[in-house]
Amino acid sequence: MNNFVFYNPTRLIFGKGSISKISGEIPRDKKVLLTFGGGSVKSNDVYNQVRYALKDHSCTEFWGIEPNPTIQTIRKAVELLKREKSDFILAVGGGSVLDATKLISAAGMYIGDPWDLVLHPALYKESVPYGTVITLPATGSEMNKGAVISNRDTHEKFSFYSTYPKFSVLDPVTTSSLPPYQIACGLADTFIHVIEQYLTKTGESPLMDRWAEGILSTIVEIAPKIREGERSYEYMATFMLSATMALNGFISMGVSQDWATHLIGHELTALKGITHGHTLAIILPGTMWVLRHEKMEKILQYGKRIWNIEDRDNEKAAGMIIQKTADFFTSLGLKIRLSENGVDRETIRVIKERFRKRDYHLGENRSVDAEITEQILNYVY
Ligand code: NZQ
Ligand code: ZN
Repeated sequence: MNNFVFYNPTRLIFGKGSISKISGEIPRDKKVLLTFGGGSVKSNDVYNQVRYALKDHSCTEFWGIEPNPTIQTIRKAVELLKREKSDFILAVGGGSVLDATKLISAAGMYIGDPWDLVLHPALYKESVPYGTVITLPATGSEMNKGAVISNRDTHEKFSFYSTYPKFSVLDPVTTSSLPPYQIACGLADTFIHVIEQYLTKTGESPLMDRWAEGILSTIVEIAPKIREGERSYEYMATFMLSATMALNGFISMGVSQDWATHLIGHELTALKGITHGHTLAIILPGTMWVLRHEKMEKILQYGKRIWNIEDRDNEKAAGMIIQKTADFFTSLGLKIRLSENGVDRETIRVIKERFRKRDYHLGENRSVDAEITEQILNYVY
């Protein structure tokens, strides 16, 4: 096990009716900026519940944070925050609203352009405190300090790290309005967050392995039920908590991490607009296949424990395990080949060139460079 420091101060407020508790979490004298997406929160009563809970607080609203939030929209929100002198932010929506809010809160304490903070992490110092009401289980943004910010002008998408939410409200009832495609992408995103922190090396931490496998097996168990329309409270509650636990640091203590699939996937979103979780379902089988030799022991452990697949021939077993993983994503209703999703060979060339210029060496062994990325993309074409 590697050395590590673990710290996660976010207060989780979980369950039916929990939105009413936010009033007790935000001091009454705070000027609150509420941040929203495109309006889903008005279709499912979340907006009404938030406004009712904060009826005695002074609030300003910012609307229009788009999926894959852009710096262009964030700049407008920061202007409003500064003009109104808001000193608390409440993000209400999916991961995109939460991610945008992380940069809004950091830029609220910074005098220059918010994009500087994305390009130069050392410039980040502090944030306006913020809480969240998450309505889409997927990103784990409700209990981590990461955000992913897009730039509409340059078609780029980069990670940004600030500070944790003070609190996050997770009410599974809020997910009842989610379209099936967003559910499928959320399930894939959750599954692959675990994979990024698990499918690396064996023997680093049996405890982390079992926790990670617990989340993977849970997603495999509930996904078909949720997909078949049984969106019961219990299944959605399990999905929601799985998504949070998959990316809040609890399964990454002392173990190697990969994240190559995510960084390649971000390019597909930036260049082609494909939804985040969907990009991962497309790329992961390619990452597994191209890197199967360096990841072989862990692939075999994963195959045996999650899919009950074993074979004396490792290469054959790996092939079956990767196929089973791909089939799982297909069973969610996702098309998992680049060519089925409007991505052409030119896009592969552009991604390879970007990775070459950025001198990327991704993955737990830093082996995923521009050439390996091209192999991964060609495999899933
Ligand atoms: O904008 P509104 O109207 O709210 O609609 C949203 C949006 O159109 C809708 N939606 C959200 N909750 C809903 C709902 N519709 C009906 N009922 C509900 N309860 O769903 C659409 C997608 O929302 P979005 O927030 O974009 O999805 P998601 O939560 O998957 O977030 C994706 C973003 O998070 C980043 C991704 O890169 C992407 O930009 N990620 C953030 C991470 C993090 N902070 O740690 C890690 C992830 O790996 C990921 O990269
Ligand atoms: Zn993700």
